[in-house]
This record gives sequence, structure tokens and C-alpha cells, in this order.
Amino acid sequence: MSSIRVAILGFGTVGEGVYKTIYSHQDKLSKALGKRVEVAAILIKNKNKYKNRGIDNRVLVTDDYEEILKLEKLDVVVEAIVGQEPALTYLQKAIQKGCHIITANKEMFAVHGSKLQDLAMKRGVGVGFEATVAGGVPVIQTLQQLLNINRIKKIEGILNGTSNYILSEMRTNHLSFSEALQAAQEKGYAEADPTNDVEGYDAFYKLMILSEIAFGGKPEWANVPREGITTITEEQIKGAEKLGLRFKLIASIQIVAGEIVGSVRPTLVTESHPLFNIEGVENSVSIEGDIVGRLTLQGPGAGMLPTASAVIEDLIHVVRANHHSLTQFSLKEGVGLVEDADEEG
Ligand code: NDP
Ligand code: HSE
Repeated sequence: MSSIRVAILGFGTVGEGVYKTIYSHQDKLSKALGKRVEVAAILIKNKNKYKNRGIDNRVLVTDDYEEILKLEKLDVVVEAIVGQEPALTYLQKAIQKGCHIITANKEMFAVHGSKLQDLAMKRGVGVGFEATVAGGVPVIQTLQQLLNINRIKKIEGILNGTSNYILSEMRTNHLSFSEALQAAQEKGYAEADPTNDVEGYDAFYKLMILSEIAFGGKPEWANVPREGITTITEEQIKGAEKLGLRFKLIASIQIVAGEIVGSVRPTLVTESHPLFNIEGVENSVSIEGDIVGRLTLQGPGAGMLPTASAVIEDLIHVVRANHHSLTQFSLKEGVGLVEDADEEG
């Protein structure tokens, strides 16, 4: 029986989780796909770092992507590295080779997602990017499903696990900012450069990906207020607690007067606010549609296995040739930009 052959680019929190899950859940995968799934290659930078990590040494490729492209049979490339390049170039080359691509890299996808989707559409391969937003929470799938009939009015929530974890730890366990950040890094929640997490860039990239799906476009990035959690002090958190308030880093995007309007900013919320009790690495995303009303998804927003779950869901979708549903929204045509959500009621 032939197998589905997968290359994983990067073997950090996400890459390792995907590798482990493919083998720990091989029976389920084989059942879903009618074939075994095999990791044919893992691209890393330094082999020594990955000794004794339970990986078949023969699949490790050190810093030579061309070697992976030369593999005779390769079905899917999973990208789990950091930053725009070389991730974009690697994925473009994978598409040109005829591979489905899956990425967890929101920084790259927020900028280049539509370009990759166009290329993939032309080549007839699928693009999976569920893991780019809210870790293990299936926000992208849900949004795409809702868009079959709904016009999306607003999306709002907590989209960064690290900053929510830090705020929770500072409040409940009285950790300092740097102690809490260190704990988030040890748990694999934080980005390689945690500036993206704590300064609101990570939530911003995710918001832009959601905007493109929901509204068929993104606002001018410079017009989106973006603020992180670094200015919030332990004293402010304690003071807020005494008043029954909590800080939450809230990302929000909606149509106002025909324009897409978004923001990422720390906000004090009261006990009655839906995000008040979202603690630790949890993310929560509320989507408002004109027919469905308001629905909320909540779950682990970062971490090895939740993110692997999102990547493997994508793997099943693209291999089942369901990739049209993953690329069905047209980033160019737009879905909901014409009317003001408020006017529509
Ligand atoms: P890590 O920093 O844990 O791992 C990144 C891995 O990629 C490392 O193994 C690194 O190698 C490798 N790498 C980086 N650049 C290259 C390159 N040019 N060639 C080969 N390997 C490279 O990151 P994560 O696993 O946490 O995140 C990976 C991606 O997934 C990021 O884009 C992140 O935003 C996203 N993501 C992360 C989640 C999480 O919970 N951590 C959740 C959802 C998405 P080395 O260590 O040698 O530098
Ligand atoms: N660093 C990200 C977070 C990983 O903490 O939310 C998940 O995208």
C-alpha cells in the first residue's frame, strides 16, 4: 500500500507535535485517508540538537531544502518555522512541485496568504492554515462554514495564548512579568521572539488572517491600533482585581461605514464580560453572523498537541482533496465589505 508522504519544515514545538501525532495516531489517520502517513523528511538547522529526540535520523535534512524538493514522491509540506522568509519561498517551491501545503506560520501567512492561495489554486493543490489562528481551536473551518450562508459582522476575542497566560499568572500566582513570560516560553506557547506575543503583533497577524476570510480584505495595517501587554504593571493588575476587573488583550475586527476597522489592545473587563473568565493559554473567539447570531469558540490557543491537532485536521482535508473548501473564499472578491454591519442590524 502506498503512503502519504509528508515533509515537516522545522522541529520546534509545532514540528515535533505534528511528527509525534502522525505516529501516535497512525491508525486513525490510515482509517481517515485509506493510506498510511509517513514523515519522509524533517528540515532542521542543526542535527546535533535533535539527537535522542526519538526521530528516525534518516529523515533529518540539515538546512538543505533542495534535498527535500528532490524527493521522488512527496504529497504534503508542513511548514512550522518562523518569520516570512525562507518560509514563503519554501512553500512556493512546494506548490510548484505539486505538494499540498500546510502552515502554522501566521506572520508569513498574514502577509502572503492570498499569494500562496492563488498559486495553489492554479496548481490544483490545497492550502491548510488552521493552526495560524488560535492554536487548536478550529476557528478557520468554522468561519468558512458560516460564510456559506452568513455575512460576518464582527469577530472579537483573545487570540494570543502567551499574553493571556502571562496576565493570568501575574494575577493569580503573583508572578512578575518576566517570570510569567519565562514559564510561557518553557511551555512552548511563546514565539521564538516573544516580542510578537507581548507587543500584540501575533494577535494582529491572526486578526488580519481572520479579516481576509470574513471580509475578503484587510484594513490598512497602519490604521489598526495595536498595543500589547508590556505596559501593564503588577500594581495595575492588583488594583483592577480589587475593583472586580481583569485585563484582557482583546483583538477585534468589524465593518463600520463600509470600512474594515480593527484593533488589538489591552482592555479592562468586568465579570459580566464574556472574556472575563478566559484564563491561561486559552483563546476565545466570538463570531457574529447575520443569520447565526453570535457564537463563541474557546480552547487551547497554543502548545504542542493542540497545534498539532489543527495541522493534522488540515492534513486530512487537503489529502482528501477537500482543498476547495480550504481555499473556497476568494481573497479578492470579498464577502462582506459592501454593507455596514450596524446598518444591517
Ligand atoms: P520553535 O521556535 O519552537 O521552532 C521553530 C523551529 O524551526 C526550530 O526547530 C528552528 O530551528 C526551525 N527553523 C527556523 N528557521 C528554520 C530554517 N530556515 N530552516 C529549518 N528550520 C528552521 O517555534 P514553534 O514550533 O513554536 O512555531 C513554529 C511556527 O508555528 C511559528 O511560525 C509559530 O508562529 C507557529 N505557531 C506556534 C504555536 C505554538 O504553540 N508554539 C501555535 C501555532 C502556531 P532552530 O531551533 O535550530 O532555530
Ligand atoms: N505564540 C502564540 C500564542 C502561539 O501564544 O498564542 C499560538 O499561535
